[in-house]
Amino acid sequence: MSLKTIRDISLKDKRILVRVDFNVPVDEQGRVTDDARIRATLPTIRYILDQGAKAILMSHLGRPKGKVVEKLRMNDVARRLGELLGKEVQKADDCIGPEVEQAVSRLRPGDVLLLENLRFHPEEEANDREFARKLASLGDVYVNDAFGTAHRAHASTAGVAEFLPAYAGFLMEKEVKALGGILSDPGRPFIAVLGGAKVADKIGVLKNLVEKVNGFLLGGGMANTFLRAEGYSLGDSLVDEEHVEFAGEFLDGVRRRGIEVELPVDLVIARDGDEAATKVVSPREVPEGWRALDIGPKTVERFTLILGNARTVFWNGPLGLFEKDAFARGSEAIARALTRPGIVSVVGGGDTLAVLEKFGLADKVTHASTGGGASLEFLEGRELPGVAVLEKE
Ligand code: 3PG
Repeated sequence: MSLKTIRDISLKDKRILVRVDFNVPVDEQGRVTDDARIRATLPTIRYILDQGAKAILMSHLGRPKGKVVEKLRMNDVARRLGELLGKEVQKADDCIGPEVEQAVSRLRPGDVLLLENLRFHPEEEANDREFARKLASLGDVYVNDAFGTAHRAHASTAGVAEFLPAYAGFLMEKEVKALGGILSDPGRPFIAVLGGAKVADKIGVLKNLVEKVNGFLLGGGMANTFLRAEGYSLGDSLVDEEHVEFAGEFLDGVRRRGIEVELPVDLVIARDGDEAATKVVSPREVPEGWRALDIGPKTVERFTLILGNARTVFWNGPLGLFEKDAFARGSEAIARALTRPGIVSVVGGGDTLAVLEKFGLADKVTHASTGGGASLEFLEGRELPGVAVLEKE
């Protein structure tokens, strides 16, 4: 897949309308608590400014469902972006309308204007054509750097491209290259490590990766459903009964193809999630009243041995309740195994990145994707609407 990128055109003196994904965690006062997604777009924004263009940035924040929600205003995002860029970032109180048009007309080359939360208008998620046209009227060129939102066919991620020449920013380009690379030409063995709570979120990616990987390592809450399919009762552990049948069929199919699939051989369990009352048992020994909350040490050893021979690894989903130290060892061990020199490690998903952050390993993997849902849909082999509009003809 080859994208048109901002390197392909002259930006000088132009108004560049940039879709970014500044959907960052905020606290009750609307203050940014994690600026990783803002930092990830800085190369694109700096490049636009250095080329002598005007940057008009637009994003959604949270899910305000078409209404103004005060704590989801972009004010603190603008403040944080200004700090990171080391220059003033102007902020508009809406994303379309006469006041925004005036603010845009006053911009000089090198200026930055951040529009208000796109999702305050229901037309954004509806991909309304007239709304997309109004957004497009604010720029001469459209740049999409919002890989994290590229799986949404919204006015700002797809609709706008009908009205303006569309190009990928550097983050978008990097994401598509990293994720596309492991799908099309992975170094082998290629191992997928999948965890997290819900099997339902991973079905598409499991099915598509069967065609690509040499092995699966399954952990976290979702592995319980696979263990149940293998006949273990697992006490009070989280099991998605609706998907036990899928899990059983998946295991059979994968094994028939000769692909390695590893489930936990031991588990850290706790009574009522209590960190002080834990033990390590085999899957057949989980008593009633106890829950599996992490993979155990034997599983860590098996998983890290396999990862020690892997050339490519994709990881999505923590292997346990990593927010609590007593159940973070499995996720930490996987994270560390992915930092080995010579391994191509691609990590996606908000919680999985939080594991890397917790252990200070975010910049030690080959690629930490800013996309959660977007990276999974990409690896499901689906076309992402926000990427499709940027492809070279
Ligand atoms: C994300 O965080 O996955 C993206 O910003 C998309 O947000 P959404 O799931 O609310 O569309």
